[in-house]
Amino acid sequence: MKSLFLFFTVCMVTFFTSGSFAQDSLAKKHGFVGADVCGMCHKSEKAGKQFDIWKSSKHSTAYQTLLSDKANEIATKKGLKVPAAQAPECLKCHASGYDSDSTLIGKKYKVENGVQCETCHGAGADYKDIKIMKVKEDAIKNGLVLPADKEKFCVKCHNAESPSFVSFNCEEYWAKIKHTKPSEIK
Ligand code: HEC
Ligand code: HEC
Ligand code: HEC
Ligand code: HEC
Repeated sequence: MKSLFLFFTVCMVTFFTSGSFAQDSLAKKHGFVGADVCGMCHKSEKAGKQFDIWKSSKHSTAYQTLLSDKANEIATKKGLKVPAAQAPECLKCHASGYDSDSTLIGKKYKVENGVQCETCHGAGADYKDIKIMKVKEDAIKNGLVLPADKEKFCVKCHNAESPSFVSFNCEEYWAKIKHTKPSEIK
């Protein structure tokens, strides 16, 4: 009996830790606040201008891309019955929060912001407060994700499942969206 219980425990753990990217973000029950809220503190020169760097990257317009004729052509060819911007098959890499319970979506959160801070760093309602943010360990406990292995992390979306995929070079791509704190620049 004991071993059967152990077996099920192992199965459950395996199930919950091996999920796809979408399941990962669903598993966390933290609320989304939106890039504008993160931007309040991550905009200044001193902080490292993360907001501006993100805003001028293609990640911030990834949802807008789905509204284009090109996107809808791709969707139609794939046999999707709805426009690209409504298809989970496209939204899964071009946005976040679209499939979350509405109680988890903050007033300022915009799906239209595409691949935003919380798409990569986890939903931030529980870690965004200054007291928690200042202590890395506390932030992580409250949902902050710091992708340790960039290569592995980026290819969750930058892969051949993307209809327009050509290639992905982690170093080159990271250089385009790098948003390191000034104090960390050596
Ligand atoms: C009230 C201000 C404030 C808000 C809002 C805020 N942050 Fe922060 N954040 C900070 C401060 C302060 C630090 C720690 C100081 C530092 O090292 O830059 C920090 C650190 C971080 C770090 C680096 C952690 C580390 O130590 O490596 C990340 C990543 C981060 N914030 C992401 C976010 C995201 C994503 C949001 C929105 C969901 C957000 N922050 C909202 C103030 C804020
Ligand atoms: C949630 C999915 C997702 C993740 C995770 C992700 N990206 Fe992206 N990325 C996209 C999408 C979608 C686009 C295309 C946006 C568009 O053109 O509308 C894109 C575009 C880019 C571009 C612009 C490429 C060009 O054509 O100029 C760069 C650079 C980039 N990503 C770097 C990264 C790096 C580095 C990581 C990992 C740290 C990463 N991305 C993680 C979805 C993602
Ligand atoms: C495409 C994914 C992606 C997006 C979008 C993104 N980040 Fe990051 N962020 C990363 C990765 C990867 C790191 C590096 C983690 C590491 O090397 O430890 C990082 C690091 C950081 C750091 C720590 C920098 C340091 O030097 O320690 C801060 C602060 C941060 N991000 C804030 C933000 C904010 C604010 C936004 C939105 C305006 C944002 N990020 C959007 C992936 C992303
Ligand atoms: C596995 C993640 C993923 C999925 C699923 C995905 N995309 Fe993308 N998409 C990306 C990434 C990453 C890019 C950036 C270009 C690249 O490196 O592939 C991108 C770029 C694009 C572009 C811009 C291409 C260009 O040449 O400017 C369009 C349009 C697009 N996607 C439409 C769609 C449509 C429509 C769907 C759904 C049928 C979809 N995508 C599904 C990840 C994805």
